Amino acid sequence: MNETLKTIANRRSCRCYNEKKVPLEIVKEILIAGTKAPSALNKQSASIICLQEESVVENLRKRLTDFKGKDPLYGAKTVVIVYADKNSRFAVQDASCILENMFLAATSLGIASCWINCLHDYFATEEGNQFKKEILNLDDEKITVGTCILGYSVEEIPEKEKKSDYIKII
Ligand SMILES: Cc1cc2nc3c(=O)[nH]c(=O)nc-3n(C[C@H](O)[C@H](O)[C@H](O)COP(=O)(O)O)c2cc1C
Repeated sequence: MNETLKTIANRRSCRCYNEKKVPLEIVKEILIAGTKAPSALNKQSASIICLQEESVVENLRKRLTDFKGKDPLYGAKTVVIVYADKNSRFAVQDASCILENMFLAATSLGIASCWINCLHDYFATEEGNQFKKEILNLDDEKITVGTCILGYSVEEIPEKEKKSDYIKII
């Protein structure tokens, strides 16, 4: 297997992070990898907001924990939100490519990650929408598609069983 295929095979969703924050230089490498993703007509319709500032991340964590009853960020100290114009035709596709690029880049750099859906649900609430507007500066024309958390795993994560019987070659 070449290095890229190894990275793909080694990616895991991490749900337990230690206290250490990923240094900004490494986070930037991951974000830049996101910008290299393919996008429909190369329009790059999705954008990225990275929450690295402790007070902002902890504010969000508290709100999400109240919303969900537990910390859906699993202790991670970096939160990367990918969003797009609500009328953008390929928002979900473009954003998802960015997110996967970031997961793979993170894996290649020894950084743990996970896609988190909860923010999307939280931003649909009145309180969450206010946070989205006031802290993230995203108005109602913008939708969040997905969130990537980054950090250091407290444990080795076993590979999830994956089926591959859904491949058809004609
Ligand atoms: C669209 C999408 C939404 C997800 N949402 C969450 C989530 O909210 N919380 C979570 O812990 N994992 C979430 N995951 C991670 C999946 O649970 C995980 O990818 C799956 O269990 C397979 O494990 P693996 O990523 O380690 O291969 C999400 C993944 C995707 C693609």
